[in-house]
Amino acid sequence: MKNKIKWGILSTGHISKKFADALAILPDAELAAVASRDLETAQKFAEKFKVPKAYGTYEELAGDPDIDVIYIGTPHTFHLENSMICMRKGKAVLCEKAFTINAAEAREMVRVAREENVFLMEAMITRHVPLIKKVLGWIKEGRIGEVRMVRASRCARGVFPPGARQMNPELGGGSLLDVGVYVISFASMIYQKSPVETVGVSHIGDWGSDEQGIAVLKYGNGEIADLSFALSTAAVNEAYIFGTEGYLKIEDVFAVPTKASLVINKAVAEVLEEPIIGNALNYEAEEVMRCLRAGLKESPLMPLDESVQIMEIMDNLRKPWGLVYSNDKKE
Ligand SMILES: NC(=O)c1ccc[n+]([C@@H]2O[C@H](COP(=O)([O-])OP(=O)(O)OC[C@H]3O[C@@H](n4cnc5c(N)ncnc54)[C@H](OP(=O)(O)O)[C@@H]3O)[C@@H](O)[C@H]2O)c1
Repeated sequence: MKNKIKWGILSTGHISKKFADALAILPDAELAAVASRDLETAQKFAEKFKVPKAYGTYEELAGDPDIDVIYIGTPHTFHLENSMICMRKGKAVLCEKAFTINAAEAREMVRVAREENVFLMEAMITRHVPLIKKVLGWIKEGRIGEVRMVRASRCARGVFPPGARQMNPELGGGSLLDVGVYVISFASMIYQKSPVETVGVSHIGDWGSDEQGIAVLKYGNGEIADLSFALSTAAVNEAYIFGTEGYLKIEDVFAVPTKASLVINKAVAEVLEEPIIGNALNYEAEEVMRCLRAGLKESPLMPLDESVQIMEIMDNLRKPWGLVYSNDKKE
């Protein structure tokens, strides 16, 4: 593959701007084009981030023969549709979390990636930061013995303008898909298997979407995960991994994780500190480029079948809550 990998960014919202900043610090990445639903918006983005090409439709970006890989930063409800137009034009895709709205959509997205033989990955940032890779190394070395419980919380008290994506059910808003996906994906990363039992509660608030929830997952060998997620509560953003011999605590785990403590016999035995370079989205972009150069069609750090499994867990959780999205009705 040529020296620089040419990226396109599809949509110009909050996370797309952060992704443009992330690409700017990677010497082998070139942000070559951006697309918005509105040409003027794309042009403003292009001017701000020094992008040579701006398109007023997503289709034009998908059809640009110079682009190698497209980052999708639209609301979850559009991830399937937007990824499909890119993959059908032979483009590799990095698609934001939540991967899709439901497991049926995720299965379809993966099916098309395999049919078109293109790279596809869910942008689950936690898996790519250096601290988390080292924590996984500690677990593999048996530093906490056998893992028996995971407790993770991704909560924040957001202040959103009316109709904002995060709370708008029409855009897949709500805590489960927006932040619950992080803690569910975290448990999946630790246990590397699907749960055999899934229970949870949530509160559907005035927004019409879920403001907060708790999920408890049980795995085949009796391992358990206790997971909290909220968009309306000033609770913590941290994770514990409890083993038979001790535990690990990771602070600020779903934002900028830089510190993990190993606790043995109730005392801190070792502290792991790893700085974050850039805004951390650069790590997932680097993984995409590593895979593309190696000719891989998916990343071993975020396998496609696991992204589907995570959507299945969220489907199972929300069924008893009566939480239905408009995309569910398209099935
Ligand atoms: N990895 C992370 O840390 C992280 C953080 C935040 C969000 N995310 C994920 O990124 C995605 C986007 O989140 P965001 O906070 O960046 O959202 P946002 O600021 O609302 O931006 C979304 C963009 O999507 C495009 N879009 C297309 N159809 C739309 C529609 N009907 N309504 C609204 N926007 C539409 C718009 O771009 P154009 O107008 O240019 O077409 C819009 O600017 C979500 O899936 C979210 O879960 C990830």
